[in-house]
Amino acid sequence: MTDTLQTDRSTGFAEREAAEIVAELTLEEKASLTSGASFWTTKAVERAGIPSIVLTDGPHGVRLQRGSADHLGIGDSVPATCFPPAVALGSAFDPELAERVGRALGEEARAEGVGVLLGPGINIKRSPLCGRNFEYLSEDPLVSGVLGAALVKGLQSQGVGASLKHFAANNQEHDRMRASSDVDPRPLREIYLRGFQRVVEEAQPWTVMCSYNRLNGVYTSEDPWLLTSVLRDEWGFEGLVVSDWGAVNDRVAGLPAGLDLEMPASDGRTDAQLVAAVRDGRLDQAVLDVAVRRAVELAQKATADARSSVEPVETYDVDAHHALAREAAGRGVVLLKNDDTLLPLATGSDAAQRIAVIGEFARTPRYQGAGSSLINPTRLDTALAEIELLAGADRVGFAPGFALDASDAPADAALVAEAAAAAAAADVVLLFLGLPGAAESEGFDREHLRLPAGQLELLTAVRAANPNIVVVLANGGVVELPFADDVPAIVEGWLGGQAGGGGVADVLFGVVNPSGRLAETIPVRLEDTPAYLDFPGEFGHVRYGEGLFVGYRWYDARDAAVRYPFGHGLSYTRFAYSGLSATADEAGLAVRVTVTNTGDRAGREVVQVYTALAGSSVARAPRELKGFANVALEAGESREVEVAVRREDLAYWDIRVDHWIVEGGAYTVEVGASSRDIRLVGAVDVAGDDVRLPLTMESSIGDVMANPIAGPIVMQAMGSFTAGLGESDVFTDDGMEKMMASFPIGRLVGFPGIPVTYEQIEQLIALANARQD
Ligand code: BGC
Repeated sequence: MTDTLQTDRSTGFAEREAAEIVAELTLEEKASLTSGASFWTTKAVERAGIPSIVLTDGPHGVRLQRGSADHLGIGDSVPATCFPPAVALGSAFDPELAERVGRALGEEARAEGVGVLLGPGINIKRSPLCGRNFEYLSEDPLVSGVLGAALVKGLQSQGVGASLKHFAANNQEHDRMRASSDVDPRPLREIYLRGFQRVVEEAQPWTVMCSYNRLNGVYTSEDPWLLTSVLRDEWGFEGLVVSDWGAVNDRVAGLPAGLDLEMPASDGRTDAQLVAAVRDGRLDQAVLDVAVRRAVELAQKATADARSSVEPVETYDVDAHHALAREAAGRGVVLLKNDDTLLPLATGSDAAQRIAVIGEFARTPRYQGAGSSLINPTRLDTALAEIELLAGADRVGFAPGFALDASDAPADAALVAEAAAAAAAADVVLLFLGLPGAAESEGFDREHLRLPAGQLELLTAVRAANPNIVVVLANGGVVELPFADDVPAIVEGWLGGQAGGGGVADVLFGVVNPSGRLAETIPVRLEDTPAYLDFPGEFGHVRYGEGLFVGYRWYDARDAAVRYPFGHGLSYTRFAYSGLSATADEAGLAVRVTVTNTGDRAGREVVQVYTALAGSSVARAPRELKGFANVALEAGESREVEVAVRREDLAYWDIRVDHWIVEGGAYTVEVGASSRDIRLVGAVDVAGDDVRLPLTMESSIGDVMANPIAGPIVMQAMGSFTAGLGESDVFTDDGMEKMMASFPIGRLVGFPGIPVTYEQIEQLIALANARQD
């Protein structure tokens, strides 16, 4: 263990009031506590007993660099369990599993003396091109929020802080340190911030990491609206805001906006700027004190004494964590296609089927993405070795088929010939394809969604030799699958972490019955994707032109074809749905449905609940995921599952009142096995929130008519007015009535034939507004 965390035992640092400690510090000491001492540590103030703490990546393993980190902080790190990156964990759709993984991460972090693990990353997968999608959970904010909260709870149960990142609207890598994500209020709230809000409110991460980018023109690291009004005042965040590494643009602007800690070290330069700003009155010292108090409180939480409720650990069970990594990898695998029940394959060397394993990835796995999340694994499974173990080596032949460095080069004829021969000699082919490491990474985006051309050539050649092919994919972001109709089975293995090879093998042989679901749509073509025309932006701006219609919301609204829909994933058993009921109360909806495993083996179903509101007064997607349940059922077992939908999850962001509003009405409730495999449909009446908008001269006649006070008065006045006019006049004509509905009432005055004065309208408005208060 590092000794930084143990310095407090004698001083009682952890028990003292943080504000009291802050009061004893000099201005220089205060400023020093709000930036890093090194790449991964905060500063200590020994005189006051304040220890340095370690913050390190994250998210799917502990990337702790011993000694002095290299200048980019990406060199060697201590061995740690490389759990499945978020792309795979997200596909498991299971908060209980995510919490267990979080707990294991916490144990490892604690054993290494880490105070804060930099994760989870819950940014929305806006475009499949984002180079860092492997580090994010979903295209849907409910999935990101639920799983993100579970990870934070698990991690923090071990006395290690989370750093919820990257806050906010950091949905691409291109120009990530400068570009402005230009997002309208509704998509910002309903899609991009919603998951963050849920994690903050449910799990109180110790820290939130602001992103590099600007949001609607303002660097998130100096955005008081984002870091204070929304994060603290609205959501009640109590922890510390840390900058992404190097995200600070102007420290003196950032601190009062709500940025507490600059990371990594700034060589004292920005600390001196803070001191000068306080001295010359540009920065209120009280504001600095608040940031320092939060830094002290973080150090208190991260120190050994504060962990007294948690058993101290010096080490962790490497085998148990590897086993958990394997379980999680298997649970994240998505069985996309399985014609004629080609899978699962029989285990054991007695089985007659000969298996050709083709593809370098089977031997040299791609199991995590590049960049700051790169873990030095404690061990590494290969699919080939795990398949040989499960099948018996005698039944298995191997051909690499392609070389990993030949990413977009034509296929190597000799390797292809060897692979085709292996395929011809086998009964079934397991063809491992995927993206080479260089294709996707933190720091840059992909330019297309294609697999390397050489791999597709290999597929064609192997298919000619033996059509009985299971394609097994390794990729962190989704890829186009032009061959989907040409092969009988496809297994999406994602980047599965250090035990990913075992996790995939478990699914191929039915040791694990697949239950992973797509947390993001697999499109037919890049050109079909929602952000296609607005990614990655230009001249420092990226306009989120698709608005609310991100992921499946887009494809469903346009009734467009997809390769595999959001929520899709097959099983080796079948599930039947019956008995849907939905009731509403002030907490939200209780959706009940009976799920029966009608097949002959145990399995898991991810029951998905979508809602819609026909005739809504605001733009909405045809269906939105509002809840899900992960249910394990024995063969033949039947269970009533209840999915609770929180009332706040039914709300839209109302730009008129800058608030969440639940619109009243008869909501459609769809329950199914994917967004395009809806099994049961019901309806439930939901009482709406009152939206009281004061009338003004700018209010439309439609608004005035809808007002409970003014409406009847105007109606009556109109009645007597129109009674004197003949059949052909304005208010008896339907089209004219519609036109008048959007006419601002103040503009009526002076219109020939309209007998109202300005004062009369003013009086009407005053009356209506007074009675409503
Ligand atoms: C990444 C963060 C990471 C930090 C520290 C940044 O470049 O965006 O996710 O936690 O570096 O490595």
